[in-house]
Amino acid sequence: MERQLGFLLFLLTLAHAFPDSPEPCELDEDGVRCACNFSDPEPNWQSAFLCIGATDVKFYGGGRSLEHFLKRVNTEANPSKQITDVLKSLSWQRLTLGNARVPALMLFGALRLLGFTSLKELTLENLEVTGTALPPLLEASGPNLDTLRLSNVSWATGDAWLAELQQWLKPGLKVLHIAQAHSLNFSCEQVRVFPALVTLDLSDNPELGEKGLISALCRSKFPALRVLALRNAGMETPSGVCSALAAASLQLEQLDLSHNSLRDTEGAPGCDWPSKLNSLNLSFTELKQVPKGLPAKLNVLDLSYNRLNRQPRPDELPKVVHLSLTGNPFLDSESHSEGYSSGVVVAPVRSSLAVGLWATLAVLQGAGLFA
Ligand SMILES: *[C@@H]1O[C@H](CO)[C@@H](O)[C@H](O)[C@H]1NC(C)=O
Ligand SMILES: *[C@@H]1O[C@H](CO)[C@@H](O)[C@H](O)[C@H]1NC(C)=O
Ligand SMILES: *[C@@H]1O[C@H](CO)[C@@H](O)[C@H](O)[C@H]1NC(C)=O
Ligand SMILES: *[C@@H]1O[C@H](CO)[C@@H](O)[C@H](O)[C@H]1NC(C)=O
Repeated sequence: MERQLGFLLFLLTLAHAFPDSPEPCELDEDGVRCACNFSDPEPNWQSAFLCIGATDVKFYGGGRSLEHFLKRVNTEANPSKQITDVLKSLSWQRLTLGNARVPALMLFGALRLLGFTSLKELTLENLEVTGTALPPLLEASGPNLDTLRLSNVSWATGDAWLAELQQWLKPGLKVLHIAQAHSLNFSCEQVRVFPALVTLDLSDNPELGEKGLISALCRSKFPALRVLALRNAGMETPSGVCSALAAASLQLEQLDLSHNSLRDTEGAPGCDWPSKLNSLNLSFTELKQVPKGLPAKLNVLDLSYNRLNRQPRPDELPKVVHLSLTGNPFLDSESHSEGYSSGVVVAPVRSSLAVGLWATLAVLQGAGLFA
């Protein structure tokens, strides 16, 4: 039986016990969350049994290489009915695999086994995926995920990794996060359409930049995409991002550019923003003025925590329902009671706890509660 199993089953059913080592797995009181950290040189793998009934499960490999397990498992053979029955009975909803060097063959073998579970969210973090693997015999034999998160995962297959990984997933993926990527310069011809993907989060890729964004947003592969997050992703100008979106012909509704160091591009060629874009986050972007060429109408514009030295004039702002200007220097010098008469709604200007406290004190004082 040993030959038939992949990584997960290996962890769950076949490992040898090392009774002297500390228990690597812990289950919370409610039996919902279970986490294993196999950092010991000779961990008790069998401790993973503890996680069988949990819904939120984390396995960390302690930075070890799992390559030697490949000799003992045949990741391509069909799992027996006994094993698929165990897998189908698992209540795992969220699974994290992290901190290990793992052969592609074993990772994809694990995805195939997870295809028998009802797993909805998978997180891979701090993994080095080595070697290559043949594509699956059956299309999309892996799990039917809603959400896939990758953080600091490197792939021996370089730019082809997304196309390769995608082959193992059922096509219902709605949310994809890729942080600290080693490559986002995807081989787009090989990537297939993600028909249901609504949210793409490429935050925390400071090397990406606007040029990189164009190759990451494989044209026409994300037809359902509505939300794009690019926090701390090396973006430089709103108009540069606009051009990248236009090149990818995305119909976005929400764009998050916060935590980039943005500057305005005076006299840059005009760019048409996606017509349905209604929420733009420009907070923490070091802006000294409202950039020109923003979408003409927005529901939400977050300009908080920038370096605006004066209150933006109505003609500098798009028509916006929810505007946030919190945390800009002009608010320290100016009275914030000046409103507009232009129909632009000035959102709550200061919301810090300290200000709230002072306001409360002032009201109490006004009510005669203090001498
Ligand atoms: C796993 O345990 C090691 C050693 O105790 C520790 O350094 C590491 O941070 C732990 N990893 C996780 C993800 O908890
Ligand atoms: C990224 O993952 C590798 C293992 O693949 C690990 O050695 C490294 O420390 C991780 N880097 C960070 C910043 O966590
Ligand atoms: C991205 O990949 C293309 C080939 O697909 C290559 O020509 C280009 O140099 C790569 N760019 C970077 C930044 O690696
Ligand atoms: C904008 O981004 C900042 C930082 O990432 C976040 O704290 C804030 O809630 C976001 N604003 C909106 C309106 O979502």
